[in-house]
Amino acid sequence: MHPILEKIKLSDAVYLLKISAKHTASAKPGQFVMLQPTELSEPIPLSILETFDGGFTCLVKVVGRTSYQIVEEAQELYYVAGPLGKPFPIEDYGKVVFYTYSWGIAPALMIAKALKEKGNYITLQHTSEDFYLREEAQRVFDEVIHDKGLKVFEADLVVSVGSNSLSKSLVFLYPNAPIKSMVNVHMLDAVGLCLVCRVRVEGSYVLACCDGPWFDAHKVDWDNLIEREGTYQEQERVAFEEYKKILKRKELKGNG
Ligand code: FES
Repeated sequence: MHPILEKIKLSDAVYLLKISAKHTASAKPGQFVMLQPTELSEPIPLSILETFDGGFTCLVKVVGRTSYQIVEEAQELYYVAGPLGKPFPIEDYGKVVFYTYSWGIAPALMIAKALKEKGNYITLQHTSEDFYLREEAQRVFDEVIHDKGLKVFEADLVVSVGSNSLSKSLVFLYPNAPIKSMVNVHMLDAVGLCLVCRVRVEGSYVLACCDGPWFDAHKVDWDNLIEREGTYQEQERVAFEEYKKILKRKELKGNG
């Protein structure tokens, strides 16, 4: 079991968690973990914000049953797999412009810190209303813009994370600049067996869990990913509602 050492509420739906899991402490910027609160829960992928000697920190946004269970009930996690995925390549690019949406600020911060150490000049445009970890972003990035309307900057590399639609828009805004984007896909096993996380890149399927999650945005079939975003929406809604009922019953029993 992996104790949750800290749980800080940043908003009604978003928490900052510090989790004890020694094997994840070696994670590199851009990698992720799979978390499972109990033996019977569905595992979910989460990006790493930071590592420390005995584990990692991450942002958890409540989007369904498992994420709710983690922030609402869990004091420890049954299973933590990782670090997973290919790290983001940390090089001296020059001017790097990040575009983030919602929880995307977490992986962006870890990558930005490493790019800054390499001597890059880094700009951030955060594009969603919720802007978690804003103060930390202001410390790490050379420039921070908070605006929904996408602006174009001089860039040797563009990075996007947090939304497939955002990444798709950047392909049109920056037809000639290299863009590295994290794809948002469902994941089940994260070891390359279930194929749930397939991504069409230049006409062939690759796997986000093993080959990604970072890809050349110019080569990704974003329409295909966006179309699949709602595939399990109904099942997720039902599972979430069922879980809330279980919690309610527990609460009533506790009060009785
Ligand atoms: S999550 Fe199953 S193959 Fe990637």
